[in-house]
Formats: sequence, C-alpha cells, structure tokens
Amino acid sequence: MRQHVNPLSNNFHQIEKIPSLIEMFGDSKFNLHLDVGCAAGDFLFDLALINPSWNYLGIEIRERLVKNAKLKVLEREIKNLYFLFGNANNILNDIQSKFIIKNVKSISFNFPDPWFKKRHYKRRVIQPEFINLLSSSLQKGSLIFIKTDVKDLFDYMDCTISSNFNFKKIDKKDFNYSESFNPSKVKTYREKYAIVKQLDIFERIYMKI
Ligand SMILES: C[S@@+](CC[C@H](N)C(=O)[O-])C[C@H]1O[C@@H](n2cnc3c(N)ncnc32)[C@H](O)[C@@H]1O
Repeated sequence: MRQHVNPLSNNFHQIEKIPSLIEMFGDSKFNLHLDVGCAAGDFLFDLALINPSWNYLGIEIRERLVKNAKLKVLEREIKNLYFLFGNANNILNDIQSKFIIKNVKSISFNFPDPWFKKRHYKRRVIQPEFINLLSSSLQKGSLIFIKTDVKDLFDYMDCTISSNFNFKKIDKKDFNYSESFNPSKVKTYREKYAIVKQLDIFERIYMKI
C-alpha cells in the first residue's frame, strides 16, 4: 500500500512560483476547473482531451507524479492542462495564486487521503480555514465537488463545507452535468477501483452563493 505523504511536513512550506493563467494555458479565457490531489493526472488527461474548451489544473503533493504529468503534457502538446506540485492548502493560500481561485468555475476533491486516526485529521486536505478561503475568494455560482468511498471522511468533508454559510448543497438529480467540467462523467483512477470492488461512493456538490 502507498505511504501517504504528510502535507504538514516542512518540505511543503515553500511553494514553487505559480505561473499566470496565460502562461499555463493556450487560451486563458476558457472555463477553468481545478482538481485537488490529482495523483498522476489520468482523470485530467481524459477530461482535457474530451473537453477542449475547458482548462484543467491539477494540484498534487507527490513531486514525481507532477514531473511525469508535466512531461506528458509537453510531449502531447496539450494546451488546456497544467499541473502544480505542492500542498494544495499552501498553494491556494499563497498570494501568488489568488487569481486561480478567482477564476475557477469548479473544484473537485476526488477520493482525498482519509487519514483515519483522529490525531491526523489536520492532515486532511479539506480544513475549515481552507473552506473559508474558498468561500471568500470564489465567484458566486462556483462549484465544489467532493467524492470518496470512506463514509467517515465524507461526513467530515460535508460537515466542514456545510458549516460555511456561503455554500449550498445542490441536489445531484437537479444538476446538469452537460454544462459542467465533466459532461461525460469520466471516472477517476480511484473511482474505477471503487466501482470494481463494489465499494459505496459518497458524493456531493456545493455552490458558492
Ligand atoms: C487517494 S489519492 C486519489 C487520487 C485521485 N484524485 C483519484 O481519485 O484517483 C489522493 C491524492 O491526493 C494527494 N494529496 C493528499 N494531500 C494533498 C494535499 N494537501 N495537496 C495536494 N495533493 C494532496 C495524494 O498524494 C494522492 O495522490
């Protein structure tokens, strides 16, 4: 089993220079989706190919995965996909990346690391301060998608986001996926595994109001 990276380690306090949207993408005016904890980026490679008029940005804390993903983007000359290495909390909290949160239409947290022990909850990527940051910087109408096969983590994430009154839950059956970042409901790597293993999948969508 993979050893989880401790996001609170000193290694991640420093973040790399964040390029502007113009430097990241061929057309910076396209709708922007951010995937937090994108691992090797398979999900985003699929999405970027299927939806060429959206831009996709992945943040991942495992440096080797980001290096490989960036090489693949260059080799394949993909213009609507970019990867950033680091702890998403530190990256998005940094003044350099304020423009990212201002411009994203949607953010996904797909199967985040669960950190089961209570004393490790602070390592979970969704934290109240992080949600406050998103709540104060996201444009109204922006969406947050959460998905996991761990019920306890789902309850924790749901409670953390719902405690912020600037987010309202969207009923999945009222949601029009065709206009979203993922109209064809592409599955993430972990999601495919969860389906094969017949695990329950818990998901929710929130809108900034
Ligand atoms: C269980 S994997 C899920 C990967 C992918 N989203 C999927 O659904 O297949 C969680 C990923 O989040 C990354 N991660 C964990 N904490 C992070 C953080 N604070 N910032 C960025 N990435 C993080 C991990 O390294 C790992 O690649």
